[in-house]
Amino acid sequence: MAPSTPVIPAGRLAANRQPRLTVDELILRPWRTGDSPRLVEAYRDETIRRWHGRSMSEAGAAAWIAERSRRWTTETGADWAVVRDDDVPIGRIALHRLELARGTGKAAAWVVPEARGGRIAPRALDAITRWFFTEIGLHRIELTHSTANTPPCQVAARAGYAYEGTKRREALHADGWHDMHLHARLDDD
Ligand SMILES: CC(C)(COP(=O)(O)OP(=O)(O)OC[C@H]1O[C@@H](n2cnc3c(N)ncnc32)[C@H](O)[C@@H]1OP(=O)(O)O)[C@@H](O)C(=O)NCCC(=O)NCCS
Repeated sequence: MAPSTPVIPAGRLAANRQPRLTVDELILRPWRTGDSPRLVEAYRDETIRRWHGRSMSEAGAAAWIAERSRRWTTETGADWAVVRDDDVPIGRIALHRLELARGTGKAAAWVVPEARGGRIAPRALDAITRWFFTEIGLHRIELTHSTANTPPCQVAARAGYAYEGTKRREALHADGWHDMHLHARLDDD
């Protein structure tokens, strides 16, 4: 149940233009219509399809990108493309299930196969986490992942998200129920 007085007043996110954030050589920027082909290519990766629970057609990519800016304006989520100098997306970092009234959100990420292992997801996650804590006032962000998918555990640890427990049979995938690790970072961690 949301508190009767919202932790963060409605409008605080949407009052801002979605910022460009930088960390080392990485640039986090809003998704653009022109990213559709790259998005389709990213979702050709079986691992991304599996853990993000969907495939991506050309039409689906255009709708997905439109939905990103809708989420920002409705303050229900925030999603950045992670690029380098060449402006080609190599990853995605996002908060979904954003609830300003509670001051909480949930992180999501993927990195294209050829860029994995470069600490892209943990650095991008740390950058958006700091931004949400300092600029918007969230107090808790969670990251959950299937116990059958171990790389996000390293991402969580590197981005300062403490392990809080295992939620048994929390998520239903095509191959059945998965236990989920719960990690979270607080604004004063
Ligand atoms: C999880 C994911 C976002 C990590 O991004 P990343 O930028 O590669 O993160 P890191 O560099 O910190 O690597 C994390 C772990 O990934 C694994 N990894 C490293 N290189 C890898 C590669 N080339 N291919 C697959 N996994 C690799 C390692 O276990 C690594 O931890 P380690 O260095 O301690 O061994 C990325 O693997 C991915 O997109 N996976 C598919 C989608 C997904 O699972 N998303 C998370 C859903 S909650």
